[in-house]
Amino acid sequence: MAINSSTSSNILLLALTLVLAILTKTQANDPDILTDFITPNTTSVDASFFTYSGLSGFFNPNPNNFTVIKATMTQFPALNGQSVSYAVLQFPPASVNQPHTHPRAAELLLVIMGTLEVGFIDTKNVLFNQTLIEGDMFVFPKGLVHFQYNRNHNQAAIAISAFGSANGGLLSVPKSVFASGIDDNVLAKSFKTDVPTVQKIELGLKN
Ligand SMILES: *[C@@H]1O[C@H](CO)[C@@H](O)[C@H](O)[C@H]1NC(C)=O
Ligand SMILES: *[C@@H]1O[C@H](CO)[C@@H](O)[C@H](O)[C@H]1NC(C)=O
Ligand SMILES: *[C@@H]1O[C@H](CO)[C@@H](O)[C@H](O)[C@H]1NC(C)=O
Repeated sequence: MAINSSTSSNILLLALTLVLAILTKTQANDPDILTDFITPNTTSVDASFFTYSGLSGFFNPNPNNFTVIKATMTQFPALNGQSVSYAVLQFPPASVNQPHTHPRAAELLLVIMGTLEVGFIDTKNVLFNQTLIEGDMFVFPKGLVHFQYNRNHNQAAIAISAFGSANGGLLSVPKSVFASGIDDNVLAKSFKTDVPTVQKIELGLKN
């Protein structure tokens, strides 16, 4: 078959599509590394480089406030390039982990004490929510807005979350929308309300 101009432009289109597909894929995941592991410098490392004890006091049955203890590549540099990380979430009675997203990671949450109401919203704006008890696991798909709530007014809750990235990132919905300097008029129009209402929300987030 002779390659005419329409065939070659089809080939070009196909090549472009492939390149775009590959680019999209790499951007959504941690990069593959070409070495066994990544060290911060050329000094040789031993097993202590692969050990992290920063979560040792995580089982606090009486937390004073909602607390997240992270073990990402920031706290634990050996995770760089390994596409995994952890966080421990401590919930006092009646506390919430406000709606947020992790742009680079799915989150696999395991309840180890108490009960938690959890949920995420998909891109069709459908809410998937569940009440979890000790031993239950829930997966929050990558990039979707989600929350956790300890509805119990007497008992704390503790959960451990694993992430499919060494640095999943955190974007809090209340803070990114109302505490980032977006013009009050833009927010008032977007939320179909007035500027004083927007300012009341902004003030609440500063406390
Ligand atoms: C190299 O990295 C190791 C492990 O993080 C650290 O202990 C050491 O101080 C670093 N050395 C230099 C010269 O930065
Ligand atoms: C939150 O509680 C933890 C202990 O559960 C405590 O270490 C921390 O200082 C508290 N933070 C605030 C802002 O009260
Ligand atoms: C899901 O959320 C709705 C309110 O939006 C609530 O009525 C329901 O009890 C929740 N379901 C679970 C299983 O937590």
